Amino acid sequence: MRKELDLETDTLERYQTYIEDLYSVTASLRKKEFVSKTGWKDFVPVVDDDTARFLQLILQMKKPKNILEIGTSIGFSAISMALIAREYGGTITTIEFDPTAAAQAKINFVRSGVDSTIQILEGDACQIVPGFSDASFDFIFQDVDKQLYPILLKDCIRILKPGGVFAADDALFPVMDLDPKWYDQVEPVGEFNHLVANSQELSSTLLPIGDGMIVAVKK
Ligand SMILES: C[S@@+](CC[C@H](N)C(=O)[O-])C[C@H]1O[C@@H](n2cnc3c(N)ncnc32)[C@H](O)[C@@H]1O
Repeated sequence: MRKELDLETDTLERYQTYIEDLYSVTASLRKKEFVSKTGWKDFVPVVDDDTARFLQLILQMKKPKNILEIGTSIGFSAISMALIAREYGGTITTIEFDPTAAAQAKINFVRSGVDSTIQILEGDACQIVPGFSDASFDFIFQDVDKQLYPILLKDCIRILKPGGVFAADDALFPVMDLDPKWYDQVEPVGEFNHLVANSQELSSTLLPIGDGMIVAVKK
């Protein structure tokens, strides 16, 4: 999602190249290969490899049983999590409103052998998320249209169990050198970050992983 490299993004690219090289042998799933095997290419970008690895680590540490992902795209992050969740009996519910993305995600779930671990709900997250009961999920990964981050936050906190983990991708959009097509996503992410950082119900931090991940625990 970044524009042409300048000095700072060049440094960041070097960090990322180093980290990816470090994990090139052990990675269970790699974004580049995953995308190359996916027939439909016109999808909204998926998380970076280091973000997928971090999601897997959270699952390995917390072993959340009920996981919610908001924003499936072609299923890269859902599959990354499912590869861990299936080992301890966790299940993933993921929400996607684009029928083409949802259809491709389902093909990818089957191809990766994790279709029994993931349930995809096809529809608008703004309608689906408010319908979940209080304290339904042990882990929520927010990666939908960034305009919806602040709008859905209250419900995300409500449907998360106390002690549950909430993570959201792209939290560094406000300070990244983004392609102009993402400019409308900057303000809502900034508002969302402030809401999370100042929430009385959450303890959180923002990590420079991928395009930034804000991670919080519900008190
Ligand atoms: C950044 S992508 C998700 C990437 C995915 N988490 C991954 O890393 O593999 C965001 C997705 O959210 C979907 N989306 C956007 N607005 C939505 C809404 N209101 N309800 C459901 N899905 C939505 C988009 O179609 C897109 O596929």
